[in-house]
Amino acid sequence: MIPSILPTYNRAPLTFEKGEGSWLETTDGRRFLDLGAGIAVNALGHAHPELVKVLTEQGSKVWHLSNLFQIPQQQKLADLIVENTFADTVFFTNSGTEACELAVKMARKYWYEKGQPDRTRILTFEGAFHGRSSAAIAAAGSEKMTKGFGPLLPGFTSYPWGTDLSDAVKDADVAAVMVETVQGEGGIRPMPDDQLKALRALCDDAGVLLILDEVQCGVGRTGRLFAHEWAGVTPDIMMIAKGIGGGFPLGAVAATEEAASGMTAGTHGSTYGGNPLGCAIGAKVMEIVSDPAFLAEVNRKAGLLRQKLEGLVASHPDVFESVRGTGLMIGLKCKAPNTDVVAAAYEEETITVGAADNVVRLLPPLIITDEEIEEAVARLDRAASRVEAKHA
Ligand SMILES: Cc1ncc(COP(=O)(O)O)c(C=O)c1O
Repeated sequence: MIPSILPTYNRAPLTFEKGEGSWLETTDGRRFLDLGAGIAVNALGHAHPELVKVLTEQGSKVWHLSNLFQIPQQQKLADLIVENTFADTVFFTNSGTEACELAVKMARKYWYEKGQPDRTRILTFEGAFHGRSSAAIAAAGSEKMTKGFGPLLPGFTSYPWGTDLSDAVKDADVAAVMVETVQGEGGIRPMPDDQLKALRALCDDAGVLLILDEVQCGVGRTGRLFAHEWAGVTPDIMMIAKGIGGGFPLGAVAATEEAASGMTAGTHGSTYGGNPLGCAIGAKVMEIVSDPAFLAEVNRKAGLLRQKLEGLVASHPDVFESVRGTGLMIGLKCKAPNTDVVAAAYEEETITVGAADNVVRLLPPLIITDEEIEEAVARLDRAASRVEAKHA
């Protein structure tokens, strides 16, 4: 008999009742160190006092209005994003997938309004993950995500990660290139700065739009507010979600005035997107994370964690191959099955997240402390010993 929850997930037999900072407590009282942060969502950890305050204050006033009205909380968050990024304008969604939908629509509408309606194709990279909607799975293109869900939305071409798109972008039907600045689900693969710079230059030369998906790597995760800042280039359109809501479902598309120029009144909408409750929380997250002192701390802690993880990998050469990633978005490339490492970490009351390419992801809350980093590596060390014992 089918379970009452549609069985599309293989869930761990763990039930959490409450959380605080980097810690989660199960219903039977075990305390887990959370190095997954709800897959890069709980940027400020669990039950952050300032977010709880905003949630309860705004929650006792008004949660939802619809975009038929002025929403000051939405305005505040949009202004914060515009002030702190390349963007001139923002549309709010409830998820990364919806941000992907709008990014695709925006790019195509741009060319339509420019009198080039045949420029509809979007170039992507293999291993990408942009969500689970028809557009997002077509964009990713992998059989794992698309099998059985055809006919797929046409107009996407996927290239192996790192492919030089010099020739491809010149095709007359290309509207945009869409890429995660750091691939997340694909196995924590940062696009090297020089490649991102080169891609920006190619897009400029061909007059093609650059869409960056920063759903997982944005909002302070890499030690800059948005990951593309490391390369010193900016996109035309950017997808945001996950960390921006600190746990409240919230996403956004941020764009330049030019890229957004086709999106006039009536061309897009969302019932819930930009609701007062979500945006009040998002604005608080942005205020905290965009503070240079906060980001400096993320970088310092990322350096500390990285250094300790290099030691961990060196002392368990049969379990781990290498450390990769950037900031607090780290991948442990495994030699042993990554599922064994994730399971052994659970045994050590530590949450990690699997990814493609046999990688274990560490995406801790950005507020993780030095002591917790120490503790995390000690737990991962014991987990690795468990994996070694299993495979001995
Ligand atoms: C890079 C990236 N884009 C898009 C998405 C889809 O976001 P959501 O699950 O909020 O729809 C994800 C989710 O993991 C992601 O990592």
